[in-house]
Amino acid sequence: MNTRVIRIDPLVPDAAALIPAAQALRRGEIVAFPTETVYGLGAVWRDPEAVREIFRVKGRPQDNPLIVHEASIGRMRQYFRSWDSVAECLASSFCPGPFTLIMEHKENIDSPVTAGLATIGVRIPAHPVAQMLIELCGEGLAAPSANLSGRPSPTSGADALEDLDGKVPYIIDAGPCEVGVESTIISWVDGKLELLRPGGISAEEILKVLHSQGLNIPLITEDAGRAADHEPPRAPGMKYRHYAPQARVHILRGETEEAKLEQLSRSAAEGILGSRPAFYLSEAIREKAMWILEGQNVVAFELITFTTEQAHKAAAQGLFAAFRAFDRSGCSDIWAEEQSLQQLGAAYMNRLRKASAQQHESLRNDY
Ligand code: TXA
Ligand code: MG
Repeated sequence: MNTRVIRIDPLVPDAAALIPAAQALRRGEIVAFPTETVYGLGAVWRDPEAVREIFRVKGRPQDNPLIVHEASIGRMRQYFRSWDSVAECLASSFCPGPFTLIMEHKENIDSPVTAGLATIGVRIPAHPVAQMLIELCGEGLAAPSANLSGRPSPTSGADALEDLDGKVPYIIDAGPCEVGVESTIISWVDGKLELLRPGGISAEEILKVLHSQGLNIPLITEDAGRAADHEPPRAPGMKYRHYAPQARVHILRGETEEAKLEQLSRSAAEGILGSRPAFYLSEAIREKAMWILEGQNVVAFELITFTTEQAHKAAAQGLFAAFRAFDRSGCSDIWAEEQSLQQLGAAYMNRLRKASAQQHESLRNDY
């Protein structure tokens, strides 16, 4: 298949240029498109054959449900069995945005999107191109991240093309994604509010808006959920090893810059950095890190830095792109700097921990 790339300026998106992609979707084909989080691989959610094609092209396990992307809160509500003050509060606060709401779906919803679950996840992307595409289709778009299973999510059109060239008719390229990690997934089922995946909206922000409206519901986080180890994972995708580059991923740990540099120095001295190491560091420690590496005669390495200002956000935004760039240059090991769990730091550390979790390797690959 010949994959056509449609380049769109996200600041002044040209609807006419999107029409061929919207027509392809309406014909039952699948199309990669930008969102503010990561690129998605979309199909009209109502078309079961098209949705199955997403699973096939990604190599995604059948038991892993997809998120539906919608254009408005009014349309989002249509999927759910009921809508209450919690749903209203969350949707009005975070939609459009990097936020997915999972609740019980209406009985008549029968689609491979749900992978047979009684619940469905819906989100409203804030990206103007995604919104325009959904409008042009006139239907919600089922879309997982546009990577092949097991690879990091694509955060640019070029990264989507790397995985999907020859496999889809269109890739809509609107440049790099603003958030860089996937949406926050919140499940609100049977009176339990659970954070299934940290993402672009932090747990603190979610609790703040709920509390401001007198909705004092506890939020069960992934770590609390882990206490019940025997339970099946609540987001089926979380059981797979995801976000993983080919290189081995290590976390450069430490609460202070000095502590991180100390670990770097020790690892270099012990000769355990790897045959061709790569570093993902904040600007703040770049120079000292280079100086340490030089002192230890580590000369062949790759380095990508993120800005120190709003470091959590910058680290999250560039992580998947860095993973892919390091893989392209054939790095053996990636050393990425730890961030505290505030704001986007929680999503960043979640992806980093999963990428470095060698013990999951025996499981089937990601989604
Ligand atoms: O930011 C995002 O959410 C991106 C962009 C493209 O919108 N999409 C994305 O989709 O990350 P995907 O398929 O790569 O990840 C969706 C996750 C999976 O872990 C899946 O198991 C979980 O959401 N999920 C979807 N529906 C679910 C449901 N009904 N119950 C529990 N987990 C669900
Ligand atoms: Mg994914």
